[in-house]
Amino acid sequence: MKLIFRILLLLINLISCVSGTFVVNVTQTYYQAEENHNITLEWTFTTKPHTSSKSLFIYCNLFVENKHFVVFYLHEGVEVSESQDQQFSGRVQFDKNVLREGRIRLELSRLRTEDSGLYLCKVGTDDGWGSDSCRLSVTAALDPADTTDQLSVKNQSVK
Ligand SMILES: *[C@@H]1O[C@H](CO)[C@@H](O)[C@H](O)[C@H]1NC(C)=O
Ligand SMILES: *[C@@H]1O[C@H](CO)[C@@H](O)[C@H](O)[C@H]1NC(C)=O
Ligand SMILES: *[C@@H]1O[C@H](CO)[C@@H](O)[C@H](O)[C@H]1NC(C)=O
Repeated sequence: MKLIFRILLLLINLISCVSGTFVVNVTQTYYQAEENHNITLEWTFTTKPHTSSKSLFIYCNLFVENKHFVVFYLHEGVEVSESQDQQFSGRVQFDKNVLREGRIRLELSRLRTEDSGLYLCKVGTDDGWGSDSCRLSVTAALDPADTTDQLSVKNQSVK
């Protein structure tokens, strides 16, 4: 009898774990921006009052065809910049202040056309894991008033 009761309790715990699912959402599924501009990609995730930043993992990657690049990595609440891909070095601003509200805001600056692709963030806390992704499309700057540097690059690509 006692054993059955224990099993029942275990089941109830399991069910409440599953129904109180941890969710990760993107706030926008598609972003479009122009080269050299900045953009802020945003995700939301389930937070509980007891959620501590020490138990927080965030792993964001850019997927382009079969390759992936680490955009941002937060390990137990601490940013691990060493694992960030060279492509994003110094170009990703992470807003720590909105984490407590369950928001992940990544500002990518000086956008390049090769930043285009699928951005997937995996988030983990004591409550579970989840992920969601959005697409970013960076178009080449077409403004002829842009720097001559960009002009000569464009000239090359036109040939
Ligand atoms: C995620 O999206 C679903 C469906 O739109 C919504 O019900 C839920 O509250 C969202 N959760 C978070 C943490 O943003
Ligand atoms: C883009 O980001 C860079 C670096 O964070 C900043 O210096 C610049 O002012 C931003 N530009 C715009 C238009 O927000
Ligand atoms: C662009 O290419 C043309 C022909 O190759 C050349 O004459 C011109 O000087 C180039 N312009 C720039 C801005 O590099």
